[in-house]
Amino acid sequence: MSSQELHSPKPATSRFVTMVSWISALAGLLFGYDTGVISGAILFVQKDFSLSRVQEEVVVAAVLLGAVIGASFGGKLADRFGRRRVLIQVGILFIIGAIGTALAPSPTWLAGGRVIVGIAIGIASFTAPLYISEVSPAAIRGKLVSLNQLMITIGIVVSYLADYGLADARAWRWMFGLAAIPALVLVIGLIFVPESPRWLMSRSQNALARTVLQRIRETTDVGTELAEIEADLQLQEGGWRELLNVSMRRPLIVGIGLAIFQQFTGINTVLYYAPTIFQFAGLRSASAAILATVGVGIVMVLLTIVALRLIDRVGRRPLLLYGIFGMILSLGVLGFSFLSPTLSNIVAWVAMISLPVYVACFAISLGPVFWLLISEIYPLKIRGRAMSIATVTNWGSNLLVALTFLSLLHSLGRAWTFWLYGLIGILAWIFVYRLVPETKGCTLEEIDARWHNIGQSEK
Ligand code: BGC
Repeated sequence: MSSQELHSPKPATSRFVTMVSWISALAGLLFGYDTGVISGAILFVQKDFSLSRVQEEVVVAAVLLGAVIGASFGGKLADRFGRRRVLIQVGILFIIGAIGTALAPSPTWLAGGRVIVGIAIGIASFTAPLYISEVSPAAIRGKLVSLNQLMITIGIVVSYLADYGLADARAWRWMFGLAAIPALVLVIGLIFVPESPRWLMSRSQNALARTVLQRIRETTDVGTELAEIEADLQLQEGGWRELLNVSMRRPLIVGIGLAIFQQFTGINTVLYYAPTIFQFAGLRSASAAILATVGVGIVMVLLTIVALRLIDRVGRRPLLLYGIFGMILSLGVLGFSFLSPTLSNIVAWVAMISLPVYVACFAISLGPVFWLLISEIYPLKIRGRAMSIATVTNWGSNLLVALTFLSLLHSLGRAWTFWLYGLIGILAWIFVYRLVPETKGCTLEEIDARWHNIGQSEK
């Protein structure tokens, strides 16, 4: 048996920790739903409020802006007040945002409400993976943390379906308001969830940490794990000093780099643009194109489930390398199919197939693995803050891609826009190949010790 297996045996039972992870992953459902819902709702909001183009853009971008703001201060809160407490506050913010936007009497109010929802998304997007990572046994951590990404994809599909189902009634207020239901379930569920034992240890609440760990591991035999966390804490200074330490350089580059590549390879523009691509490729009616987009969403959900099954077995790196390779190829093919001014039958098919293939490849790679890795590679005392940095970069990149997409289409044309994302994919592949570590099966403390050793040898 390898030393890794000795350190991280498969738990006898993981029922409680799995339940706790599902509850936290409801934050992911809200992330997916609230980012996806706008695509259908905006058509009716635009008409009801007679929005100008600029106003419409502000309402659409408000959530991304809010997410950048939320992610920028959320990490400090999670390190200071605890993961669970912050998630509960975020759940309440989701409820306020959902009701606020549903009742919005004016466009300004609506944009404000969407910024609040965005702030909640920005904080939740990394606090949920952070919490799950800290309660999970090493052997199944990849699967449990990625439940959050699974819920994001489910949230996106549910939002498409809600938009579709409520479109005839033009009920945009309900589209926004429905999010209050999962948000309420999240808050209630979190009442029964314990605080992260690792965070408790970092606040010197060792006795409570032991009780929680025994509850989560469903055994009294938690001495070794507690001792390892304690030993790891001794190595850490905490605060900005640690964040700026030379041993943190590589993990910060990895987090920031993956955040940029997750967005700049174009996932959200492909999702957003999918109905138009399908129409262009021959599905003439709008509703057929929207249904095809729901199909793409379902492919994304299914392939995320495949990723969950593989991530602790084959590891994070192979998923990233194979998935990004597939994204590059499918973007290349998609670009080619746009070169012909009218799509012949065969080219139309190629376009319609390369789109779900691209989404599938994202779903097994950059989708789940980015959020997972940033929840694993930072030391406990500064984990929240460091994840914050990667997450701000992610939401900032998301916003930038959204703001530049239309002008890229205008100046480069469709083929080159998607080829540009493909070229960025090539950089992403090289980046992963050279810099991203494998974390499969290692405890969080083992991962931290690795950086620490690198830091020592570079001094
Ligand atoms: C990304 C989002 C994206 C979603 C799609 C997430 O991991 O951060 O930007 O919309 O995956 O599933």
